[in-house]
Amino acid sequence: MHKLLIKNIGRLQTPVGSFSHRGEQQGENHKLDKAAVLIENGVIKEITSDGRLPQGGEESADMVVDAEGKLVTPGLVDGHTHLVFGGYRQHEIPLKLKGAGYLDILRAGGGILDTVKKTREASEEALYEKSRAFLDEMLSLGVTACEAKSGYGLDLATEVKMLQVIKKLDEQHPMDLAATFLGAHALPREYEGRGDEFIDMMCAEVIPYVKERNLARFCDVFCEDSVFDVQQSRRYLKCAAEHGFELKIHADEIEDIGGSRLAGELRAVSAEHLIAIGEEGMKALTEAGTTAVLLPATSFYLGKPYAPARAMIERGIPIALATDFNPGSCPSLNLQFVMNLGYLRDRLTPEEILTAVTINPACAMGMGDTIGTLEPGKQADLVIWDAPDMEMLCYRFGSNPVWQVIKKGELII
Ligand code: NIG
Ligand code: FE
Repeated sequence: MHKLLIKNIGRLQTPVGSFSHRGEQQGENHKLDKAAVLIENGVIKEITSDGRLPQGGEESADMVVDAEGKLVTPGLVDGHTHLVFGGYRQHEIPLKLKGAGYLDILRAGGGILDTVKKTREASEEALYEKSRAFLDEMLSLGVTACEAKSGYGLDLATEVKMLQVIKKLDEQHPMDLAATFLGAHALPREYEGRGDEFIDMMCAEVIPYVKERNLARFCDVFCEDSVFDVQQSRRYLKCAAEHGFELKIHADEIEDIGGSRLAGELRAVSAEHLIAIGEEGMKALTEAGTTAVLLPATSFYLGKPYAPARAMIERGIPIALATDFNPGSCPSLNLQFVMNLGYLRDRLTPEEILTAVTINPACAMGMGDTIGTLEPGKQADLVIWDAPDMEMLCYRFGSNPVWQVIKKGELII
């Protein structure tokens, strides 16, 4: 039995309970001062406060970490990333600065389709190495679990290649990953003008193949003006649900064409982006209990408005905040910056933000029972921050106040 004791924690802050937190619960965190955490074999055994030490004290621990009065939170969870991709797209910036919109570039065959070309050309090994380095960087920023989407293949072979990279990384890297199959991310050139046929092909060939080989738990679609309309998205997602996938949907990122209403109708686990969501869309998410995954760094990078986070909290929609890390609309994997934007632009409180980067995304990734909070019985994923409280984390930006990262009870940073 390996026992790790973290003592002298100035403040331990965490949401409590293995469920999606909505409404007032979103802002309810436990705050324990002068706390300590005892970890046994990678699992939290006991948490104490007010200067008391867990059973057995320091003597019974194999290793003791002195947190020097700093803040401890659960490891951060990034609930929406496009982790695996070939190349980059820095050449798009001058076009954007001249006024080209995100969808203009995509319609002209660039954007996602440019990354599709580079991802099809890349070997599985090259994609693995590149993505592994991203995961290392995420860990150093305090992220201990993330979702990862495919979607830059748009054909069977490349989608499977991407999902195999995600699977291997989940097995071989300390990060916990949740895999999402995003086969309907854009219409590939070879299907130009034949969107319905592309959806037919996805439903007949790729969805069953991915499920049979258990390469992903979730299935996602980019439901957007000039990409996939509501009818196509519904057909694709229904087929995925019939094959046993849980559903996610890129909805209302640029235009409200009904994506979040569809998410509600199909009882999707999450609807993601939601910059342009309207009252009906919010009603649908509330009724279905769908988690809203907000991506404010994408709003920042595209120069778009921010999703109406406060209105969603008022309507009882659980909120998660994620990076959307991808080579086009958000080439940053810094979830701390997303927390800054959650505070200053989405107007969430530091407590609501902590819930939005821990237990709520964990639930939307099907991992709420094991990660996302600091409680006895949960996997010991936690961050010691060089900061006294969450207010400081949300206020400072551009530097990295991670002091130590503990993953499954191991000190890794
Ligand atoms: O979530 N919106 C669709 N997909 C990504 C962008 C992908 C890309 O531009 O490469 C997003 O923003
Ligand atoms: Fe995305």
